[in-house]
Formats: sequence, C-alpha cells, structure tokens
Amino acid sequence: MKTKIYNFKNIIEYKDLEEASSIIKNGGLVAIPTETVYGLAADGLNPEALEKIFIAKNRPMDNPLILHISDIFQVYELTKDVKETDIEILKKLWPGPLTVILNRSDIVPDEVTAGLDTVAIRMPDNKITRSFIKICDTPLAAPSANLSTKPSPTTADAVYEDMNGRIDAIIDGGPCTIGIESTVLDLTEEAPKILRPGYYTKEMLEKYWEIVYIDLGLNDKNITPKSPGQKYKHYAPNAEVLVLIGDDDSFRKEVNKLLLENESKKIGLMVFDNDKKLYNNKDVIYMGEKEDLSYMGKILFDSLRKMDENGVELIIVRGVEEDGYGLSIMNRLKKAASQNVRRI
Ligand code: TXA
Ligand code: MG
Repeated sequence: MKTKIYNFKNIIEYKDLEEASSIIKNGGLVAIPTETVYGLAADGLNPEALEKIFIAKNRPMDNPLILHISDIFQVYELTKDVKETDIEILKKLWPGPLTVILNRSDIVPDEVTAGLDTVAIRMPDNKITRSFIKICDTPLAAPSANLSTKPSPTTADAVYEDMNGRIDAIIDGGPCTIGIESTVLDLTEEAPKILRPGYYTKEMLEKYWEIVYIDLGLNDKNITPKSPGQKYKHYAPNAEVLVLIGDDDSFRKEVNKLLLENESKKIGLMVFDNDKKLYNNKDVIYMGEKEDLSYMGKILFDSLRKMDENGVELIIVRGVEEDGYGLSIMNRLKKAASQNVRRI
C-alpha cells in the first residue's frame, strides 16, 4: 500500500479533505493531526475498519480506542446516562486535550471498547481534524499513530516513519502543540477520576469539578489500573533510557560519573536549559525551563525518536517531581525507561 501525504501545513484544500474522507468512508486508515499527538483514524462505527487499526499498529485487541467527535451532540448518540452538569463542563473544556469515559450506547462497536461497557470520547482542538470529522460524518476512532510500544508521534514525519506502507494516508497539519496525550477522565462513578494523566492536571480539573481523584493503579503495582492501556509497554525508543531525579548539583555529578564510566557507549542527554555548558557531549537536547514543563512535554516523544535516529545507545533524561504536569510527564518517562528511574 502506498501512503499518501496531504500537506495542510499552510493551506487546507477542501477537495483534498473530501478525498481523504472518502478513504475513511471506504473503511481505510488516515493519520490525523491533533493538539496532543497524531492519531490513526478509522470510521469509529465500522468494525472492519477498526480491525485494521489494530493490525497497522500491532496493538493488543483488548486495549480500547478513543472516539473523536466534532460536535457535542454526538456525546448523546454514543453514550448513555451522561449527567447534564458534566455536559456543561465539557462545553467549556472542549475542544481540548481531555478524553472522558462514559457508559456506551448500543451503536458503539465492541472493537472500540474492547468489550467494556464504557467508551472514551474526545473533541480535539485542531481545526483541520474537526472539519475532517464533520466531512467524514462519523466519529473517528483514533489511537496514537505510532507502532505499539514506540513513542507517540508529534509530527507527520514521525507517523511516516512508523506507518509508511501500513496506512492509506497522513494529513500533515504541522507539529503538535502539546505533545503528550490527553488526560483520560472517568465520569462513570460518583466523582471524576483520572485514569491517564495528561495536559489537564487534577488541580486544573478541580476548577470545574469539586473533587477529582487519581486512579491509584497508576503508581501502585498491586492495584490494576482501570485504563487497560496503562499495563502495556509504551513509548520505548530503541536506546536504553535512564531517568535521574535530583538537584542540579547531584544531577551534574552523576551524569559526569556515568559519562566517564561508559566512555565506549554513545550517550545522549535530555536536560534543562540551565544544565547548559555542563557536558562536553554532542547529543544533548535542551527541554526548556525546569519551572515550566510545557516545552519538555512538547518535545519529549520527538526527542526520544531523535536520539534513536542519531544512534544513541543510552539516553539519560533529567526527571521531574510527580506533581502537577510533572505527574503526566513522569507517567510517560517511566514507561519509556521501563521503570529505570533513579533518585540521586
Ligand atoms: O491525546 C490522545 O488521547 C490521543 C489523540 C490521538 O487523541 N489518543 C490516544 O489514544 O492517546 P491511545 O489509544 O493511544 O490511548 C487511549 C487510552 C488507552 O490507554 C486506553 O486504554 C484508554 O485510553 N481507554 C480507551 N477507552 C477506555 C475505556 N472505555 N475505559 C478506560 N480506558 C480507556
Ligand atoms: Mg498510544
């Protein structure tokens, strides 16, 4: 299969958007830009098309998909028992990097929900993609458009790297602005609960809901996480990843020691701007300010991919404390590092 690329970085050709929508209507796969990461989209109501997503990604069949919508009324079609107070809040937070879990309606296929009674729904904040969903005239099921276990793609190039020849088309809408997947919030219980941390933190969501819980299964090995996706290997580059958490001084000392001990290894560093001039090493990526983690989030997955492209064997990343947005970033980093995280 030849993968076609629609370049919508500067102008969107309506004719091309129509052509791409006919791929979806015929049961094909199209990668789409969103503000978080690129998604791999299929008609969310067509079981045969949905199966192709799992094959293209090598994704385990028991990991459910998110349905992407362009209008709030679709929530009523795809779910049941939704609270009006929740709808009012969603009108404020959508379009945006928030996925909600609700009880599914009968029209949602088992391939989307992996047989669960609930369904994940999100309205992405990307104009091209919302127009695309409208023209397709169906909710789009879309997991991140990477091969299973690899870092999520935040550019069309990263999608191409993993998916060339496996999918029909890619819509290139430029780099994603957030870079980390949406917060997954369960609205089926008494109080909302975060099942996957993302751009929206507990603190931000508590401006809308009185109290928001965090699934204990996220950080406790003895409790099964409610989101099936949390149990799989994820975001892993080919290189080994080591995450070090500590103050500036201890971090510098530990890195210098590791550089000396591993002279024969090609080591890459992902550090903050104020870690500058500390290392005489050409594979360094600066992730912005420690005090504002938004840039780190934006370039995290892309940096892991770049390190692989440069043939790095060991990536040392400066980790952060697990509060606020740091919880979301560390959730991804711990998986990328297969839990190889050390406090120094
Ligand atoms: O930002 C995002 O959410 C991106 C873009 C493309 O929208 N999508 C994304 O999809 O990250 P994916 O498939 O890589 O991750 C979806 C997560 C998985 O961890 C899955 O287990 C969880 O959502 N999920 C989906 N349906 C669920 C359900 N009914 N109950 C609990 N978790 C669910
Ligand atoms: Mg994913």
